[in-house]
Amino acid sequence: MTFTRRTLLAGALAAAMLPGAAPQAFAAPPSEDGYDLWLRHRLVADRSMLAHYRAAIDHVVVLGNHPVLRSAGEELARGLSGLLGRAIPVRNEVGKGAVVVGVNVLSPESLARLGPEGFMVKRLDGPERVVISSAGEQGALYGAFRFLQHLQRQLPLNQVDMADRPASPLRMINHWDNLNRSVERGYAGKSIFVWDELPELRERYVDYARVLASVGINHTVVNNVNASAEFLRSERLPGLAALAGVLRSWGVRLWVSANYASPITLTKDQADPITVADPLDPRVQQWWQDKIEEIYRIIPDFGGFLVKANSEGQPGPLDYGRTHAEGANMLADRLAPHDGRLVWRSFVHEGFDDWAEHQYRVFHPLDGQFHENAVVQTKNGPIDFQVREPVNPLFGGLPRTNQLIELQVTQEYTGHSTHLCYLVPEWKTILDFPTYTGTGSWPTVSDVVTGAAYGQENVGFAGVGNLGDDRDWTGYQLGAANLHGFARLAWDPTATADEVVTEWIELTFGCDRRVGSVLKAIMLQSWQVYESYTSPLGMGYLTYPLGAHFAPAPTTTQNLSHHTTAEGTGFDRTEATGSGYTGLYAQHWQDVYGSLERCPDELLLFMHWVPYTHQLHSGKTVIQHIYDSHFDGYERVLEFQRAWSRLKGQVDASRHGDIAATFDDHVVEAERWRDTIVAYFFGWSRILSTGPGWLQLAFPSGRLLFGGVPNSLDLEITNANSAEQSVTATVHPPDASWKVEGTTAVVGSAQSKTVALSVTPPLIADHVPLTVDISPGQTTLGSQDQTYVVTPAAELCHLALDVGTADSPLVTGYARLAPGTAWDETRGYGWVGTAPQGRDRGGSWDALQRDFCGDYPARTLRIRIPAGRHRLSALIGDGGPDTPPTIITEAGKVLATSPEMPGGTFIWIHAEVDGGATGRTADLVLDSEPDRFWHLGALVITD
Ligand code: GCU
Repeated sequence: MTFTRRTLLAGALAAAMLPGAAPQAFAAPPSEDGYDLWLRHRLVADRSMLAHYRAAIDHVVVLGNHPVLRSAGEELARGLSGLLGRAIPVRNEVGKGAVVVGVNVLSPESLARLGPEGFMVKRLDGPERVVISSAGEQGALYGAFRFLQHLQRQLPLNQVDMADRPASPLRMINHWDNLNRSVERGYAGKSIFVWDELPELRERYVDYARVLASVGINHTVVNNVNASAEFLRSERLPGLAALAGVLRSWGVRLWVSANYASPITLTKDQADPITVADPLDPRVQQWWQDKIEEIYRIIPDFGGFLVKANSEGQPGPLDYGRTHAEGANMLADRLAPHDGRLVWRSFVHEGFDDWAEHQYRVFHPLDGQFHENAVVQTKNGPIDFQVREPVNPLFGGLPRTNQLIELQVTQEYTGHSTHLCYLVPEWKTILDFPTYTGTGSWPTVSDVVTGAAYGQENVGFAGVGNLGDDRDWTGYQLGAANLHGFARLAWDPTATADEVVTEWIELTFGCDRRVGSVLKAIMLQSWQVYESYTSPLGMGYLTYPLGAHFAPAPTTTQNLSHHTTAEGTGFDRTEATGSGYTGLYAQHWQDVYGSLERCPDELLLFMHWVPYTHQLHSGKTVIQHIYDSHFDGYERVLEFQRAWSRLKGQVDASRHGDIAATFDDHVVEAERWRDTIVAYFFGWSRILSTGPGWLQLAFPSGRLLFGGVPNSLDLEITNANSAEQSVTATVHPPDASWKVEGTTAVVGSAQSKTVALSVTPPLIADHVPLTVDISPGQTTLGSQDQTYVVTPAAELCHLALDVGTADSPLVTGYARLAPGTAWDETRGYGWVGTAPQGRDRGGSWDALQRDFCGDYPARTLRIRIPAGRHRLSALIGDGGPDTPPTIITEAGKVLATSPEMPGGTFIWIHAEVDGGATGRTADLVLDSEPDRFWHLGALVITD
């Protein structure tokens, strides 16, 4: 990219603030909910352009009866009617003003050169008409969408002549959707596919297919790579066939992620079940052969299987002493006669000391062993979709293997639907990366996956999608830009980020220049801004490794992504002194990455361990860079928020408000990152910044308070100023029922001191925000506003159960309820019937929230309720994945229900219970929605 981040935003912001640039007098555009994404065919705003289009376009003519051509005709009629604000019908006769779409309507030789997915659009005279044509139906459909986009962007018809073709044959979306409609790493609601309702179809499936086709996506894998074998059960296939039918009319082929142990799972109720999944076992082979034939009988254009094998607990051929290639080829050979393909993922990371090396060490020796239709799908980097990683050395490292590049469109590590992070600029750096594995600098990653490097045909792009059933599809209004951008690069990796984002903005928000320039500046900077406050100098992976991958938790990835000490930080992956990872690249990159002097700053801490005082090419020391980039990154997010708020009135109110609300959350989260990372590195290094100093707050005793008794809340104050500070800390109570006492401490420069605050909450079970005020006021890192979990003090409860595993730590005074705790009369609590499962999410959580019991089937907990009326409170939540609702019933009556919650959040739910005159036992049934996991973390009975 050739802009500098500051100047670009500054320029755009200045433009937005010019006197003449004040919001215009006419009303803001009508509200939209984002459902139409970039397929908005609203009336053309520019009046002279509208007149120009109206004079030239009158009707649509479809030449041919193929379903894909019919889709093209429908789309043109619908889209043009919207854009021109009057009915543009489909007719049989070509008259003046026709938009003609069909196969081989223009010179067949030129069209043949563009292939069945390429197209030409031409404006012709006598009669005056626009012709959209291709050597194949699919290309004609793509041409129709491109023609509509031309009009959406208000470009003149004398510029409409174009010829284009996709650079790579496989342009694929991977859904990580599960049978229960949850979406792994999805931030946009549930799966758009309602599996249990299929083969009944929803309107939205057509719009889904239109969305994909409009940007040239031609394959979709509809379920999670952590695959349930259920997707291949015979009863499910008619449903998939119905979905495939919808997709087919829009030129998209349906695929399924296959669980490698499907033969075992799906025959287990048979008289003679298959007990292995060994690819060389004849019964296993026959089972797959039959299954594949069964599928193709009802889905003749089935795309094939995507397989995650022997990775993160998934079964695979290695379980039987076979290689990945043997495992893949067994399936590929059976798909081949049907024109099906097998995509096999190279994402494996078990078994070596450094995660970064696994994929290469496992897959490089297999180069040349995969059959022609067995395609290896490789993540862009060697770790896992971090905001910055080096390019995976498998690109250029598998010259005799068909490869797809896997990019993550859904923002797992890049801010979910809260942080704006437009990924096209990152993907461009990856695609343009010269591997130096050939001669000269050749080939680039894009050469590998377009087939230019090795002349392969089963190559291309796979994007882990970000679509869900939220009204706006992607969970926040700007998230769709990443889906659009992925597809545009899969079509044409030479497109620039600027071109791609400009197109998306104009299609999504219209052609207002001020809106366009401000939004473009924000979007193009957002990736590097996100990087600047989350991933210093290529370090990556500073979130808790097992959880949601959202909030900062640098202490939890020591060894995985960094080896931070009081002296320095980074990860030595050099051949000379470290893990040896740099040796996996071609000589050119071995020399660059292996050398402290030549290694680019942005990957320094990925490749090297350095002292904090190491000087970067930028001239700054490593530690000063860490401080500055985090403070600066946060300021940039504030600028984004302000710049967007100034567009109020120029973007429709609904979408403007949605985006403004997302920026508000973004600011809060960016601050959390800044505070955590800066505090972490100052805590280790104790090196003062050359810029202004700050204070750091930490709460070493955690965020668990006991209700009804005084708590001593430890507060650690660290002084990162050059002079000693006298600091007064006071707790701001939420209401008058709380009793609190503050304290004053003198803390020396670069020193820490722990003081105790006294806090007495009322006898409640709740999550309560508390504010710690610091005076005199100054920059203070470590948020002063925090939510505390209040649990009633055990001695004030009739029953106080810490629910979880058999050996996780207990809350003071609480009794343990583990899966093994069966009902016992004298104890007064325990499970009856089958016990549930227990889970412990580990030490970054307090004793109450870290562990829980839960299960898919309902389970029964019997408890003794003392005489009289009482309040029963249950803690629900999970420090790891999202939490489905938990429903607690007694004797068929629902006592309390928790909502659907994101991972890492908790809630107390309450019910009144009556023990009658003498007390009684109650059987509480814990359940969730069908096939979903309920949770119970604590249970208390108070007055
Ligand atoms: C990451 C991600 C998982 C996913 C895995 C994969 O580890 O966190 O949710 O299953 O990648 O790509 O297979």
